[in-house]
Amino acid sequence: MIPFLNLKAQHAALEQELLAAFKHTLESTQFVLGKEVAAFEEEFAGYSGGRFGIGVNSGTSALHLALLAAGVGPGDEVITVSCTFVATVAAVDYTGARPVFVDVDRDTLNMDVTQIEAAITDRTKVILPVHLHGQPADMDPILDIARRHDLVVIEDAAQAHGAEYKGRRVGSLGDMGCFSFYPGKNLGACGEGGMVVTNNEDFAQRVRMLRDWGQERKYHHVAKGFNYRMEGVQGAVLRVKLRHLDAWTAARREHAAKYGSLLEDTGVKTPVEASFARHVYHVYGVRVSNRDAVQSALQGRDIQTGIHYPIPVHMQTAYQEFGFGPGDLPVTEQASAELLSLPMFPELERGQVKQVCEALVEAVEDSG
Ligand SMILES: Cc1ncc(COP(=O)(O)O)c(C=O)c1O
Repeated sequence: MIPFLNLKAQHAALEQELLAAFKHTLESTQFVLGKEVAAFEEEFAGYSGGRFGIGVNSGTSALHLALLAAGVGPGDEVITVSCTFVATVAAVDYTGARPVFVDVDRDTLNMDVTQIEAAITDRTKVILPVHLHGQPADMDPILDIARRHDLVVIEDAAQAHGAEYKGRRVGSLGDMGCFSFYPGKNLGACGEGGMVVTNNEDFAQRVRMLRDWGQERKYHHVAKGFNYRMEGVQGAVLRVKLRHLDAWTAARREHAAKYGSLLEDTGVKTPVEASFARHVYHVYGVRVSNRDAVQSALQGRDIQTGIHYPIPVHMQTAYQEFGFGPGDLPVTEQASAELLSLPMFPELERGQVKQVCEALVEAVEDSG
């Protein structure tokens, strides 16, 4: 069997380091925030090119608080994409604002920057691009439009730890960057976790206060806040794992290169790495017609794959109220029908990559 993801392999290699982190947390009893979280905040913010890092309990919470810190609320609009995990849009909805979707670029599946200006109204507060699958969105045009229209830029970097745009790491390119440390992410906790990274001291202070009940100091609630704090044990675990992230990213990029060369000139469209990007391949999403038949054929050969994502957010039952429907975002809709995510994790073996490619090419031919 070739799994889609193998966290057991990652944890076996780090067992002693992780056990020490768990033990340390147990002994310190710093279960919520504490020194390990503070150290991880500093280390990960620095890694991502930011001055401040605020650890929270999920990537969704990071997005929610970044939007609130930017002053987003009922009646406002946030320009974002539908070609993403539902959390991007849910976070906008939590604030009472309305997500306004633009389509994505055909090659990168990231925000189509040529559509942004037409979507701006006098209610627009934020542009929220997603670095989908680990590839940075085209940030320079986004930042330029935002500056001209006085908008805040929040990066959804949940899938893109360490990805680079023109040589700079994502998360500190916009006004705030939001990361997820969900276990399967490129940098994953042993549980839930997230972080807002920023260079802006006011935003940092606001997010820090909101994650901890809106307290300025203990029991002095100056804003309506949340219990969104990061757990101590996750800070300790993530500090261990951060030391391995660059090696893991290099392994992912090697697998991606191998997939790319083995699938060249087949009926399979492989991901395009933009000239400005250093993709970190959280997801290696190929595009095939007859995707569902191809996926079943691979399953029949014990090769696990994923679909990220089968239904775009604007076509989900829960998100009909925003006024978008089938046909409104054709590139996004076509991508949802064709995307198939191949096994991708650092410990994947070269022979397994070859096996996946052979089975995939055969499945595509048989389904055609
Ligand atoms: C693009 C994107 N945004 C936001 C999130 C939300 O992160 P979390 O699951 O940590 O809440 C995720 C991951 O799940 C994601 O992939």
